[in-house]
Amino acid sequence: MENRAQWGTRAGFILAAVGSAIGLGNIWRFPAVAYENGGGAFFIPYLFALLTAGIPLLVMEFTIGHKFKGSAPLSFFRMNKKTEWLGWWAVLVSFVISTYYAVIIAWAISYSIFSFNLSWGDDTEGFLFNNYLQLSVDPGQTGSLVPGVLIPLLIVWVITLGVLFKGVKKGIEVANKIFIPTLVVLFLIIVIRAITLPGAAEGLQTFFAPNFEAITDSSVWVAAYGQIFFSLSIAFAIMITYSSYLPKKSDLTNNAFIAGFGNSSFELLAGIGVFGALGFMASQSNVPVSEVVSGGVGLAFVVFPQIINEFPALNGLFGFLFFASLVLAGLSSLISISETYVAGFSEKFGLSRKAAVGFGGGLAAIISLLFATQGGLFFLDAADYFINQFGVAFIGLVEVVVIAWFLHNLSDFQAHANGISDIRLGGWWKICLGVITPIVLGFMMFDLFKTNLLKQFDTETGNYEGYTDGFILYGGWFVAAFAIIVGFLMTLKRWDAKAVDEVKKEVG
Ligand code: ALA
Repeated sequence: MENRAQWGTRAGFILAAVGSAIGLGNIWRFPAVAYENGGGAFFIPYLFALLTAGIPLLVMEFTIGHKFKGSAPLSFFRMNKKTEWLGWWAVLVSFVISTYYAVIIAWAISYSIFSFNLSWGDDTEGFLFNNYLQLSVDPGQTGSLVPGVLIPLLIVWVITLGVLFKGVKKGIEVANKIFIPTLVVLFLIIVIRAITLPGAAEGLQTFFAPNFEAITDSSVWVAAYGQIFFSLSIAFAIMITYSSYLPKKSDLTNNAFIAGFGNSSFELLAGIGVFGALGFMASQSNVPVSEVVSGGVGLAFVVFPQIINEFPALNGLFGFLFFASLVLAGLSSLISISETYVAGFSEKFGLSRKAAVGFGGGLAAIISLLFATQGGLFFLDAADYFINQFGVAFIGLVEVVVIAWFLHNLSDFQAHANGISDIRLGGWWKICLGVITPIVLGFMMFDLFKTNLLKQFDTETGNYEGYTDGFILYGGWFVAAFAIIVGFLMTLKRWDAKAVDEVKKEVG
């Protein structure tokens, strides 16, 4: 265990955790989610979720990784042999996420190049679906591979796996030390420009206008928790893996607060920038801001190109900066998502880091080709919808229930974190994790099952339609079942004893 890879500096760990948290979820999901769920009033459930679930869970995951010094499955195994499956479940959900997350980054790479001569023309929607994605098949069919997506996708995997190949200190830490400061600078330039455009004030007003009635609706709370989980990379196995590379003396609680607030600050910044730009576009086309709002695919690849078309000057440059920001935010998250299975496979099967990157990353890259086909967007949306509605927050619920209610480990973890951290965890931490989070998440999941999941599919992430319920539901359940079943199968194999003891001698 002494040979386990380690971060070189505290800042390196924090940047990597923040780099994992800040991702596509912040830039394209948050602004629309906040707007659609009460605008200014959304901050009430959002902050509640951040303070009672997000940061407390982050502290818990940091503590688990630091205390048990293993990938998520190994850490859970060391905590209690019977909980290893929980680690694999999170790892396999991350595996699925990595396969489509990579494709969205690939689109952003293409679009950063398209920006220079505004290749998307005036009909940005037609360009995306017909020219770029060549979406001409029915949901559930693949059609052929789309070269325009395939080539940037290969680039995404080469960068991601190249970074992972180099290890924790020389690869992940160095990449985040470059990506994250660059991202912040680029994004600040975009936001400042966006809020100084004509009409921006109206956009911001629309964004922040509080609709307090909304927060009496349970779906708004579901959205707030879902956003916090995805955005903070909680229950993805990521934060456990990353904190397992911390040295003995590390401030866990403080780091969790920095990562949590850093991520939310960026999210808020993205909301301001996006709505400033939407206000500008609405004023250019003389329509209310509410008519131009969108999120996800529609926001980034349909509406943003339109906004860039309208820019008063330097359109190409701003387009490039926006899509380059998506690429950097996405890559730093994809690296962390993929590291979960690289670490897990390497410890379970006694593989060297390089072999685990080749095997795990290679497999993910091959599966990701599905989303680079003509029908790829439908598959992508099915996977993303299911993961968000069901995957991550559900794992979070099971995690807190198992740890707080069955294993009664919270006091032990509290003592561990307090022994090395500046901020001391008090009774509030245990109440958040042992009482508030399981009750709210439990209610949320119950509500979701009852009202939504089994009956209907409704995405607000894109500007496209045409799903069949069956396809989404069966596809989604297939992925969910795959993650759980394969997770259980993995526990049948013994840990590679040598790998677990001497793991990662060559990395770091
Ligand atoms: N936390 C990452 C994101 O927000 C996964 O995209």
